[in-house]
Amino acid sequence: MAENLAVLGAGSWGMAVADLLAANGHRVTLWEFERNDCENLVRLRGRPDKLKDFTLSPEVRITNDLAEATSGFSLIVLAVPSQTMRSVLRQIRKLSPDTGLVNLAKGIETVTLKRMSDVIREELDIAPDRLATVSGPSHAEEVIRGLPTAVVAAGSSEEFTGRLQHVFSNGYFRVYQSCDLVGVELGGSLKNIIAIGAGIAEGLGLGDNTLGAILTRGLAEITRLGLAMGALPETFAGLSGIGDLVTTCVSKHSRNRFVGERIGLGEHLDGVLSRMTQVAEGVQTTRSGHELARRYGVEMPITAQVHQVLFEDKPPAVAVGELMERRLKTEIWK
Ligand SMILES: NC(=O)c1ccc[n+]([C@@H]2O[C@H](COP(=O)([O-])OP(=O)(O)OC[C@H]3O[C@@H](n4cnc5c(N)ncnc54)[C@H](O)[C@@H]3O)[C@@H](O)[C@H]2O)c1
Repeated sequence: MAENLAVLGAGSWGMAVADLLAANGHRVTLWEFERNDCENLVRLRGRPDKLKDFTLSPEVRITNDLAEATSGFSLIVLAVPSQTMRSVLRQIRKLSPDTGLVNLAKGIETVTLKRMSDVIREELDIAPDRLATVSGPSHAEEVIRGLPTAVVAAGSSEEFTGRLQHVFSNGYFRVYQSCDLVGVELGGSLKNIIAIGAGIAEGLGLGDNTLGAILTRGLAEITRLGLAMGALPETFAGLSGIGDLVTTCVSKHSRNRFVGERIGLGEHLDGVLSRMTQVAEGVQTTRSGHELARRYGVEMPITAQVHQVLFEDKPPAVAVGELMERRLKTEIWK
């Protein structure tokens, strides 16, 4: 059934998802907060600085008015970066009680260490059975080309996540269901830290053995924190666990891997970020993940080293050396 949908945030992912939803026959309105960017998007039907060779479907309405983009919709899809999510939500006036909310952001708020669904519930009066997160290995650059992609919709209501499966799925975009909101949100966020680590290894000229080690030991530490925070272990073997982790750590489209690679090549974080036109969520998530590990008393050695390289000027090669020389232990963790 065709729905009336709003997508908030016209970055790479917001545009790709708005286009996908319009292709699925829904009526879609896309909100961009910055007036000039919005005017350019209306004129060009794309943002070449964010997504090359992409033209937004003529069916998608574009607006700069948040009140207009948040009233009268059956579903509101949130595609703004995680550190700006709360400020956007605070500008939304009361929603009608039957509106559903779908989070697409992959990150953990640095100030509060809250996951996105917690931030949404704090800021909006929304019942848990109308809230979900859609996450998984889904680079916008590939979704706009119609390359087969699978993601997961996680939430407490099977009925709501089932509805989202039908709203989002088509011949190249397949949506699975999950009841593990905690695990799906943590997997989608924490993998960006490991992707920065994988990029650092690439920049240092290390090999495939190193990448395999970072991926598996990265998954081990993500899972350890996830279990301490109440996630289901099997979620980390799923699309928002190993699926997103592998894609992000090896993909040329990954901005987090790119940040790591430049740092491994000897650049400074500020210089790398100043040249980027898109958000690299993993940088701030490194702060959140590192602090969560401390609070929950969970060992996250790769996260700790990435934190020191990004924020404490530790030379990347020294970080690798310290990871290799840690106390020897069993592989399977408890
Ligand atoms: N790009 C992808 O392939 C992809 C895939 C899955 C999930 N995500 C997640 O989606 C989120 C958005 O990523 P993106 O790639 O679209 O980022 P982006 O950098 O391309 O765009 C971010 C957009 O967010 C909006 N925005 C930024 N600051 C804002 C503010 N202060 N107030 C309101 N809106 C603001 C703007 O529309 C901006 O264009 C991130 O959490 C990312 O991890 C991205």
